[in-house]
Amino acid sequence: MTTQETQTQTPELVFPTGFAWGAATSAYQIEGAVAEDGRGASIWDTFVRQPGRVVNGENADTAIDHYHRYREDVALMAELGLGAYRFSVSWPRIQPDGSGPVNAKGLDFYSRLVDELLSRDIDPWVTLYHWDLPQALEEAGGWPSRDTAHRFAEYAALMHDALGDRVRNWSTVNEPWCAAFLGYASGEHAPGRREPAQAMFAAHHLLLAHGLAVQAMRAQGKNTRIGGCVNLYAISPQTGSEADLDAARRIDGLQNRFFLDALLKGRYPEDVLADLGPMADFVRDGDLALISAPLDMLLINYYSRFTVSGVPGGAASAAAAPTDTGSPWVGSEHVSFVNGGRPVTAMGWEIDDSGLEELLLRLAREYPRVPLVISENGAAFDDVMTDDGTVSDPERLAYIEAHLRTCHAAIEAGVPLQGYFAWSLMDNFEWAWGYGKRFGLVHVDYQTQRRVPKESALWYADTIRRGGLNGPAQ
Ligand code: FCB
Repeated sequence: MTTQETQTQTPELVFPTGFAWGAATSAYQIEGAVAEDGRGASIWDTFVRQPGRVVNGENADTAIDHYHRYREDVALMAELGLGAYRFSVSWPRIQPDGSGPVNAKGLDFYSRLVDELLSRDIDPWVTLYHWDLPQALEEAGGWPSRDTAHRFAEYAALMHDALGDRVRNWSTVNEPWCAAFLGYASGEHAPGRREPAQAMFAAHHLLLAHGLAVQAMRAQGKNTRIGGCVNLYAISPQTGSEADLDAARRIDGLQNRFFLDALLKGRYPEDVLADLGPMADFVRDGDLALISAPLDMLLINYYSRFTVSGVPGGAASAAAAPTDTGSPWVGSEHVSFVNGGRPVTAMGWEIDDSGLEELLLRLAREYPRVPLVISENGAAFDDVMTDDGTVSDPERLAYIEAHLRTCHAAIEAGVPLQGYFAWSLMDNFEWAWGYGKRFGLVHVDYQTQRRVPKESALWYADTIRRGGLNGPAQ
């Protein structure tokens, strides 16, 4: 079917009115301008300067220069017809050392961005923390230190006070799993520490930071919606053997249930605490009540399915880090991540849209009543720009289409799914992988900073305009 034909056809799979059609980015991955207008250093500024941490020694000092090009970028969003844009705030722009008064120039950038979005009828969705901890706070102990959670709540309150009258949708910590376990156990991400027991404290304090921030923001009495954000995986045992089933239980426990149960049930799963043994010594009375304060929505980032085996020595994880790192699977280092036999993206991540549907149905069943939003979903592929200047990316388009179909099916089945944000609006700095992995709907030439919407972006714009998708794939 050509684009021309799709444009005239009424969609068969119509999404509900009010569904948020969006795209997402994060501050460090796009902004650049790391030393401008009083911004302090973050743990990523430090990490990227350490040899061997990032592929080709790349950094995000300039990234895609969004700090200076935000108007042009918002215009592009408007052209694509986005209804919503999820971005994160760089904490060290607001509080250069992670505490104390607001750096007015830093705050002003986000205030201008929000105004620009609103003037184009694009709903701003703010994420308060997408991994760029002020370096000064890492030096004071980082996320393994309980104080960091209190500093985060103060920062969240500052932001919510300043923008809460214009920004309705807020989320606290993006993917606490990654921030804790890639940052403090495997060392694949900043700050690059490999201290498994400390990583457990980090995970708990990231959740506590969420809970304290929700409390502080709610106390301001503004008419906002606040959510937590988790990255969930569908998980399958390789076989029905006891060892493989136990491996699946452990990884599901640490990846999914640890965060979901804490946020939505006010407890950590008993089996995970038992797996961790003495490393589970991180909870204080009252913490879980704070962490599980009712949420207005749960934001879910979904990319892939893991197939796991309890037999040591299986194939290494397809999602293994580019450099030599430890395991993020605290207490489950013996579990192997095996090839599930599905097609993969340029990240080596297996493509499995059925995993998203499985997760959505499970959430609605096991954690009922909380509205859900897909806050990230997308894929890296090696895009090629053709001679006529267009970027054809059929694999990304197919990935997003397939996942949107499962979203639609889940809604039909009664799942309270309220929105979908493609990751990412534009190609950007993909953490330890540098600029080599392109996730954007919009292609960015890193030399000239020129933005060109890929075919997937044009298709997505068309889908948004029509409010849905064509019927079942042939
Ligand atoms: C998620 C991150 C996002 C990006 C995508 C590919 O885990 O939140 O910043 O790296 O993966």
